[in-house]
Amino acid sequence: MCGIIGYSGRLEAKQVLVNGLEQLEYRGYDSAGIAQITKETIEITKTTGNVSVLKRKLGEKETIASHCGIGHTRWATHGGVTEENAHPHQVGKVTLIHNGIIENYKKIREDYGKGILFHSQTDTEIAAMLFDSFYHGNPEEAIWNTVAKLEGSYAFCILFEDIPNTVYCIRKISPLVAAYAKEGAFVASDITALIAYTQDYFVVPEDTILVLTDEKAELHNRKGNIVEKEMLHVKWDFTAAQKNGYPYYMLKEIYEQPEALWNTVAPRIKEDIPDFEEEQIPDSVFESIKQVKIVACGTAMHAGLIGKVLIEKRVRLSVGVEIASEFRYASPIIDSNTLVIVISQSGETIDTLASLRLAKELKAVTLGIVNVKGSTIARESDYVLYTHAGPEIAVASTKAYTVQIAALCLLTMRLAFVKKTLGRGEITRDFALLKESMECVKRSLLLEPQIQEMTACLTDARDLFFIGRGIDYALSCEGSIKLKEISYIHSEAYAAGELKHGTISLITEGVPVIAIATQESVFSKMVSNIREVKARGALVILITKESMQVEDSIFDYHFTIPEIADDYTPIPAAVILQLIAYHTSLRRGLNVDQPRNLAKSVTVE
Ligand code: G6P
Repeated sequence: MCGIIGYSGRLEAKQVLVNGLEQLEYRGYDSAGIAQITKETIEITKTTGNVSVLKRKLGEKETIASHCGIGHTRWATHGGVTEENAHPHQVGKVTLIHNGIIENYKKIREDYGKGILFHSQTDTEIAAMLFDSFYHGNPEEAIWNTVAKLEGSYAFCILFEDIPNTVYCIRKISPLVAAYAKEGAFVASDITALIAYTQDYFVVPEDTILVLTDEKAELHNRKGNIVEKEMLHVKWDFTAAQKNGYPYYMLKEIYEQPEALWNTVAPRIKEDIPDFEEEQIPDSVFESIKQVKIVACGTAMHAGLIGKVLIEKRVRLSVGVEIASEFRYASPIIDSNTLVIVISQSGETIDTLASLRLAKELKAVTLGIVNVKGSTIARESDYVLYTHAGPEIAVASTKAYTVQIAALCLLTMRLAFVKKTLGRGEITRDFALLKESMECVKRSLLLEPQIQEMTACLTDARDLFFIGRGIDYALSCEGSIKLKEISYIHSEAYAAGELKHGTISLITEGVPVIAIATQESVFSKMVSNIREVKARGALVILITKESMQVEDSIFDYHFTIPEIADDYTPIPAAVILQLIAYHTSLRRGLNVDQPRNLAKSVTVE
């Protein structure tokens, strides 16, 4: 978490840093700060609060004119949200910003920090002290000596007092990308902060120092030799990372789904069946697969739950869906005949990455479903199926989720083709169904006014329950997390049949229940479950397909999706749930894009 940016070039550093931090704010918004360097001085400005507070503070003081500096937006890990704990931190000649966690900071403090007065409770200030204690005029030597002592994860951008115009960077696990454009050299946690200047960038490799000056962005190895950069290109531009007239990124991203889905699906279709030739995923990879594990966190894991239903039904392989933070410390039963699918929007989630590494150690075949090009998970997976959602900036994931489902649909079809569990004709029909469901997203978006109106009944809710069966239960898990993360209403998802084994005791007069009942095979069972909650006074918001007959007495609000095949209902139904979460959050007067305590990219444990 935490967003970091560094710059050296011809533009005013303050402006570049603040603009970059605004783009990175979704990574953390507890506090923000910048440091600017000139021949004479280093000036630090930092504050609690988000980047707009920092901007105000910078506007109120006379700042130095500088063309080189570093900036940070914080998601607190070590130490509370205070100005002292905000980055940058300065010790002696060193000023730095950090994303990650230094696990052995106590020992370093004991070994090297005796007699030093620290101003914060952060691990970062202790790292700054160590850099300073190793700095005797040779920055790269100081960096190598320091990182040799550090345990944990880090991305550092460092200024040395007597070397103006230069930012030094090094990373381990935590991400850093860099670019050189006509305006100068840039480094940041991700490409969104650089997109205003360039679409071409490179990932800073681990175990390499990046040196930024107004003339270059150069990589050096331990011997001081230049390391070749592997350039990457993103297809989207600056406008894709703006709100473009929408009040919040989340709403914009909800509305981008028809295009995102199409961009993800269309390039993979040849003769009406999915084909991964361009991705260089040969069919032979799937031939020996005997079981599948899907590993991910949060919303990506919920997409995996949908994938399980699809793959098990169509390919008849056993699929386990695992929470990455559990999987990485468990003793998973996997081998070279296991396909481990890791799903991640950012491609940087630390637990998902660790799970991928474990799966590789255990010789599984690994396939990443990833949105961010060149991210660590994408680079380290044996095979990658990119989703093409474009940048997702709102913390609450929306378009990334539906495109992950679409990617899993494609993967299911190809697996079924290779394993011959479906014939070509059946797969062609399945693909047509997927296209139909993608088309239905537009219909769900048209429901926004009615959904907005309905959410008035949720504004004061304290608890809320989502229920569903089968694939609708998998979708309920996502509906529930979306709602709770941005509205702060306590919410839980329950398999509808399980309700009477405990949770129904919580259903009292007026408690909202969002019932997803799009599956024909279990529709009558769902109706019985809905009756049960209604009989106990629940306020029922029902989602079904258009054709499903329901008595008025079992619901208070009813939203429908068009008539599509059961397995393909999650895509349009998810959009309804996203709009419910969005409007509930708005009605409660919350900042939809920046929910309390959450960050988009979880790069620390
Ligand atoms: C965080 C985000 C979620 C996301 C999860 C996994 O919790 O707030 O929206 O689903 O991380 O992120 P990933 O980038 O791996 O999909």
